[in-house]
Amino acid sequence: MRESSTAETVGAKPLLRVLGGTRLQVPPVWMMRQAGRYLPEYRAVREKAGGFLDLCFTPQLAAEVTLQPVRRFGFDAAILFSDILVVPLAMGRKVWFVEGEGPRLEPLSDARALLSLRTEADQKVLAPIYETVRRVKSELTAKTAFIGFCGAPWTVATYMVAGRGTREQAPAKKLAAKEPGAFQYVIDCLIGASAAYLNGQLDAGVDVVQIFDTWAGSLPPDDFERWCVQPTKRLVAKLRGRRRGTKVIGFPRGAGEMIPRYVEETGVDAVSLGNEIDRDFARDEIQSRLPVQGNVDPLILLKGGDALEREVDDVLDKLGRGPLIFNLGHGILPETPVAHVERMLKRVRG
Ligand code: CP3
Repeated sequence: MRESSTAETVGAKPLLRVLGGTRLQVPPVWMMRQAGRYLPEYRAVREKAGGFLDLCFTPQLAAEVTLQPVRRFGFDAAILFSDILVVPLAMGRKVWFVEGEGPRLEPLSDARALLSLRTEADQKVLAPIYETVRRVKSELTAKTAFIGFCGAPWTVATYMVAGRGTREQAPAKKLAAKEPGAFQYVIDCLIGASAAYLNGQLDAGVDVVQIFDTWAGSLPPDDFERWCVQPTKRLVAKLRGRRRGTKVIGFPRGAGEMIPRYVEETGVDAVSLGNEIDRDFARDEIQSRLPVQGNVDPLILLKGGDALEREVDDVLDKLGRGPLIFNLGHGILPETPVAHVERMLKRVRG
């Protein structure tokens, strides 16, 4: 099996060194949703592409927007420009984006619909995304890590069931409670399809993958165990069964006191922290076990000024004494001024 990076290149990329457990004096930095509408150069390419999914599936343009924030800010990582919903798309579900609103899918409303799901992702559908990875890879410097990603099975399932983003993820929770066997089948399909998607990205050249479980925090502990922890554990094991030592960042957003359990069970190399988590708890109960990423409040980045400098200083003070990847707790907001990002970086890098 081809290794995606040798020990030597791992040593050279600050982000990968931190994932290996090293604390760096100046932490590596990237931003969730760093390619996005807050950047004028992104909006220009987005307009040229037409729809959001057209942008995701046009390698030349997707590679360009992946690289834009790295060029502009010198981030320590590029994150592949794609979306978590390309997996259901490749499983044969209809997916579209409504301008100014968000994603739409044909919903799955009963056990019959759940059990009729195609088990695998069509790799032909995903091929342009792997081409994007190869293009980006050839343009990155030896210091820049390349992050691939997918949605965690639970989070993707919440969109597949409801057909859209929902408050508290009520439709998925109700269906999982009423039809646990059929819901488990969907989760099982998503584990396989997501592993295939991440393996395709790793084969094409990403250094590390992040599993976004945006809605992990809405589940009570028993359901968190069944629908978040166990599926993530199986997904990670599938990746490492094919490629030993694959680096994985988990993002069980909002899972708070359940995160130490997630860390112990899933075997992820690092966790990304939402901005709601208490920083002392994160340091004592999570960073004591493994490297952490994130936690900066995107609303404070939007606000800027002294509040932003205080936020940066507090994250560095509380989490900067251990292995840290500096990042936001959730995606950058589209209204955020570019100057605020520059100010944040200056404060982190000194
Ligand atoms: O971080 C990056 O720059 C990489 C690209 C990336 C996108 N989506 C591009 C995107 C990543 C990592 C994602 C993950 C994603 N997508 C998640 C998990 C992370 C999170 O934010 O919680 C989720 C839940 C989705 C599903 C999704 N895609 C939603 C709910 C929306 C609508 C909200 C919005 O911000 O518009 C999207 C659209 C989307 N995905 C955009 C981008 C840049 C905006 C599309 C546009 O240009 O109009």
